[in-house]
Amino acid sequence: MIPCQKDKFDIPDHITYLNCAYTSPLLCSSQKKGVSAVQAKATPWKITPTDFFTTLESVRGLFARLINCPMDDVAIIPAVSYGIALAAANLPLKAGQNILVLEDQFPSNIYSWKRLAAKNKGQMKIVKRPFDHDWTSAIINSMDEHTAIVALPTCHWTDGTLIDLVRIGQICRDKKSALVLDGTQSLGAMPFSIPEVQPDFLITAAHKWLLGPYSMGFCYVHPRWQAGGVPLEENWLNRKGSHDLSRLVDYQDDYQPGARRFDVGEASNFFLTPVAESSLQQILEWGVENIGKTLGVKTDKIAQQANEMGYELPLKVMRAPHLIGLPMPGGVPKDLPVRLSKNNIYVSVRGDAIRIAPHLYNSDEDLDRLFEVLGQ
Ligand SMILES: Cc1ncc(COP(=O)(O)O)c(C=O)c1O
Repeated sequence: MIPCQKDKFDIPDHITYLNCAYTSPLLCSSQKKGVSAVQAKATPWKITPTDFFTTLESVRGLFARLINCPMDDVAIIPAVSYGIALAAANLPLKAGQNILVLEDQFPSNIYSWKRLAAKNKGQMKIVKRPFDHDWTSAIINSMDEHTAIVALPTCHWTDGTLIDLVRIGQICRDKKSALVLDGTQSLGAMPFSIPEVQPDFLITAAHKWLLGPYSMGFCYVHPRWQAGGVPLEENWLNRKGSHDLSRLVDYQDDYQPGARRFDVGEASNFFLTPVAESSLQQILEWGVENIGKTLGVKTDKIAQQANEMGYELPLKVMRAPHLIGLPMPGGVPKDLPVRLSKNNIYVSVRGDAIRIAPHLYNSDEDLDRLFEVLGQ
């Protein structure tokens, strides 16, 4: 269990921020790195060619550690939509084959698939939300011999309901379906290991549970899709020999090794990478397993109080430790968001539920304040 870490953040006492799934607050340490990074642009004569690679490679390595894979398998991307577009540009889909997604899946993990399906005369297949919250069985039952791509989140973004990814990974390999995962709502708060799940692509934004900056993300690409893989755009930085800035017009057909060929242009973004680096270092220092266990105690308390108030929630084994949706039969009362924000309580309304997403900066008092308003 990690004790409350509020002193590492810049959150005033009267604010109850239970909305990490929306976007995280920045660690003070990362904030400082960001300010220094912005200031450094005032003195460009101090920026050396090596600086285009040092922090970029450090960040790539830290994220690789977090998901237990070689750093060569990680590309730097600006958004989940970019990573999904990358996967869609590289995975084959024949006429008559289908792409499996979940009902109410986040749109960045939908639109590129719809385009691919339309272009290649394939179909989208949507797994309906199961009444018993058992997404895993629902996904398995929806797969058929025409399923070429299974594009899923690592947990449902609206309420944190879980999927057994190890099992789905095995079934995808057996059925020769590609597995593409959007880890935005769990990486950093729940352990994830590439060798256990063996996805084809694992994509995430950095600004939620990775406590990082907006407009930055990561894309794991299985080695089988690296050689010959097509990037979304062609830039100089991910080409062979780019370390030598004086020779950039010796145009190269080859890329930097591994998944670097998929790096977005200007991946060494001098403002964003130091912030992401600092946040990933802190997450690895805490340990993702410890973060998950600590947040699990908080969501258990939320679930217990919610159950006492009559909310019907998925069983503990069916939900993530860091994210919980309180379904409101008949919808969220119109005045509830106003009452919450008047009390400086920040959560999200997603469909007919409110989504509560605590982190290590939240105390028991934060949860008490929330239930005081919910109980009114
Ligand atoms: C599950 C999930 N995926 C992706 C995103 C972000 O997508 P993008 O980086 O394309 O804006 C979010 C939230 O913003 C999300 O909740």
